Amino acid sequence: MKIRVERDGLADAVAWVARSLPSRPPVPVLGGVLLDAGSDGISDTLTVSGFDYEVSATVGVPATIADGGRLLVSGRIGDHGTAIMLARGEFDLAAFETLLTPRTRLVAVTHISNVTGTLLPVERIVQLAHDREAKVLVDGCQAVPRMPVDVQALGCDFYVFSGHKAYGPTGTGILYGRYDALSSMPPWQTGGGMIASVEYAKTEFLEPPHRFEAGTPDIAGAVGLGLALDFVEGIGREAIAEHEQVLTGYAVDKLSRIPDVQVVPGGQRRLSVISFNVDGVHPHDVGTVLDQHGVAVRVGHHCAQPLMDKLGIAGTVRASLGLYNDEADIDRLAAAVKACREMFVR
Ligand SMILES: Cc1ncc(COP(=O)(O)O)c(C=O)c1O
Repeated sequence: MKIRVERDGLADAVAWVARSLPSRPPVPVLGGVLLDAGSDGISDTLTVSGFDYEVSATVGVPATIADGGRLLVSGRIGDHGTAIMLARGEFDLAAFETLLTPRTRLVAVTHISNVTGTLLPVERIVQLAHDREAKVLVDGCQAVPRMPVDVQALGCDFYVFSGHKAYGPTGTGILYGRYDALSSMPPWQTGGGMIASVEYAKTEFLEPPHRFEAGTPDIAGAVGLGLALDFVEGIGREAIAEHEQVLTGYAVDKLSRIPDVQVVPGGQRRLSVISFNVDGVHPHDVGTVLDQHGVAVRVGHHCAQPLMDKLGIAGTVRASLGLYNDEADIDRLAAAVKACREMFVR
C-alpha cells in the first residue's frame, strides 16, 4: 500500500479543527507571566512581563479565556507588565521582587531564555514567589535537552517542556505539577479516562494526573518522547551541559571578535542559545547568507516581541547549539557571518 503524504496535511488539519470547533477557547502559551487577582474580585488578570515567550499568541485576544472570570487575558501588556531583564542579559531579581504583591498568584518564567540563552536563577525566583504564597511555573523547553533538571531542588510547582526540543516527536510535551498544586485544581478539559464517577447530580474526577489527561492520549508520541529522553539520559545531562557550555563560550568569543557583530548579552550564566546581529544587515538577510553556507540558524523575533522592543531591535539571528555540534560548526558559523558582513557591510 502506498501512503500519500500531503504536504499541507497539518495545516489542513488545523483549519479543520478551527472550522469544526469554533467555540473552543484559545489556550494561551504561558512563558513569563505574573497572575494577579483582579481588584474587582470577579476576574483574575494575566499580567505579562517583558521576558515573555509567545506573548503574541495572547495579545490581541483580550478575551475572557474561561467564563466566570477565572482567567482574563489582558490585551495590553503595558497595564501591568514590567520588563525584568536588564543590562547585560541578567535577570534582575531585585526588580522582580518589587513586582510581587500579595495578589500575585502565579509566576511563570523560562528556565533558559530562548533568545539570550540566559540561565535564570529559578531557585531564588521560587523562594521569593513562595514567600508571597505565589505558585511558580517554569518553562523548561530550553533546559531539559541540555542540563540536569531537578524539579524538587528547584522547588517549583509546575515545570513544562515540549518533546521536540528534547530530541523527541513534535506535538508531545510534559507538564509536571506538584501533587498538592494539581489536586487543588479542577480539570481544564473533559474527555475519556478522567472521571471517577458520574451522576446527574455530581461528577467526581480521578486523582491527578489522570484528571488532566482527558481523552485517548498520543500514545505513539509518548513512546517516542520516552525514547528521546532515554537517549538524552544515556549520554548524560551533565556531559551535555559541559559540552554545550564549552561550545557556548567558544561561539560567543568567536562571534564577538567579528567587527560589526553585536552579540546579545546573555548574562554570566548562559547556555547554548546565542543571538546576534550584524550592524546594518537585516537578520533575515543574514539568515539567507548563512543558509547558503550550510549553516542553519533561526531569525526574527523568536516569538518574544516585547523582549525585542525592550532591546530596541527588530529581531536577531539565533544560533542554537545541540549535543551534536562541535567547534568546527562554530568555525563554519563564524566564517559564514564574516562572508555575510563582507557582502553587505563593505
Ligand atoms: C522557552 C520556550 N518555550 C516554549 C517554546 C514553544 O514550544 P512549542 O514549539 O512546543 O510550542 C519554545 C520554542 O521555541 C521555547 O524556546
